[in-house]
Amino acid sequence: MMSAGKSANNYKQNPEAVQALVREREVHRDLYIDEDVFDLEMANLFASTWVFVGHESQIPNVGDYYTTTVGNEPVVMVRHTDKSIKVLYNRCPHRGVKVAGDVCGNTGKFFRCPYHAWTFRTDGKILAIPLKSGYENAGLDTCDAAKGMVAVDNVHDYRGFIFCRLNSEGVSFEDFFGESLSTIDNMIDRSPTGKLQVEGGIFRYVHKCNWKMLVDNQTDTCHPMVAHESSAGTAVHVWEEAPAGTPKPMAVELFAPFMSSYEFFDKMGIQVWENGHGHTGVSDSIHAAYSDIPGYWDAMSAAYGEERAAQILGDVRHNTVYFPNILVKGPIQTLRLFKPLSAGTTMVESWTFRLVGAPDLLFERSLMYNRLINAPTSVVGHDDLEMYERSQEVLHARSHEWVNFARLYDPAEAGQRNVVTQGTSEWQMRNQYRTWLRFIKPAQNEGVGI
Ligand code: FES
Repeated sequence: MMSAGKSANNYKQNPEAVQALVREREVHRDLYIDEDVFDLEMANLFASTWVFVGHESQIPNVGDYYTTTVGNEPVVMVRHTDKSIKVLYNRCPHRGVKVAGDVCGNTGKFFRCPYHAWTFRTDGKILAIPLKSGYENAGLDTCDAAKGMVAVDNVHDYRGFIFCRLNSEGVSFEDFFGESLSTIDNMIDRSPTGKLQVEGGIFRYVHKCNWKMLVDNQTDTCHPMVAHESSAGTAVHVWEEAPAGTPKPMAVELFAPFMSSYEFFDKMGIQVWENGHGHTGVSDSIHAAYSDIPGYWDAMSAAYGEERAAQILGDVRHNTVYFPNILVKGPIQTLRLFKPLSAGTTMVESWTFRLVGAPDLLFERSLMYNRLINAPTSVVGHDDLEMYERSQEVLHARSHEWVNFARLYDPAEAGQRNVVTQGTSEWQMRNQYRTWLRFIKPAQNEGVGI
């Protein structure tokens, strides 16, 4: 029996063994438990795809910064003095200290390393070094440290959503995301002013499981009525016993759809896009029947006209996966990031957005949804967490080597692009693993963009 950790396959030296880990209808357990596979994901998959960094509203002023990770690379997103947004590796070129230590803040016109006070402009270039005379004949300009804080040169601002690709060469932003950007468009367009604002804080908590378990879960429509019966099912039962005429609480509106039937989820459909992206909720969604928010329609129809406003608000996609590790819910204005820490641990972040110009109650609904479903103190999310951690605990069992994704498999699906399929199909998960297989190979150019 192979326990969790490193297998005997030595995947870093054995690309053929890595390619054998994904079959058409199943993937090998080592994708979830092997640290060498994890290292390859960080070095290849997360460096050669476009990964979400943050949102422009987090850094409105010159010097504002936000620290995060891309894969397992530490980065800081900062508003440069020319107002452009830079993404820098958050590592001092001197002795390697993390320069920006807080999650967010304002650094003014430069970063100052807390160890020996080297300073860097907000584009990463060295500004000043104390006791500079000691370096006059030391050849510093030919040292690696002369690069300063290295800037990621492939940064893309998509309507305020900041992405980066760490490798210098690779797939373009447009080719990587293609039509899937329509989900981000829809979330932004739900603002009467076309603007989003990150607000309400970001929930963060560590899950003891592999990051891909969370990604798999987002389009897994065969689990809500089972795994969430104890939470959402209880809310439904309590509501059924409420006296007639009781106004339906917002919390019940948010909880109850998780108990929708297999038939409902199957009919709502799944959109499968290229490069591992896709979304549930094509013709219907668990977010479709929320109550109207007073004043919202008036604001939207005034901003866009009735026809366009109805089109925007009628698009009620459920979960959109942006491969590798983003989940967006347009109709409820939330985003989740599944940040890999190791093969068996993931930092899960849950974000909320205010639709600028929309009634406050709409934002309160987003906050309530995030508290009830995604927060460390939530109810529904813990049902899933229990399943992830049970899987991580026993995937190494000698009884099975493979994890199954065969539901509604179509032998012709691999060559098809941008299709809509049944809502209980696992096609989208297979789409993710086909993409994983392509990007797990080392890129031709593995430079860091300098
Ligand atoms: Fe940053 Fe020395 S480690 S200045």
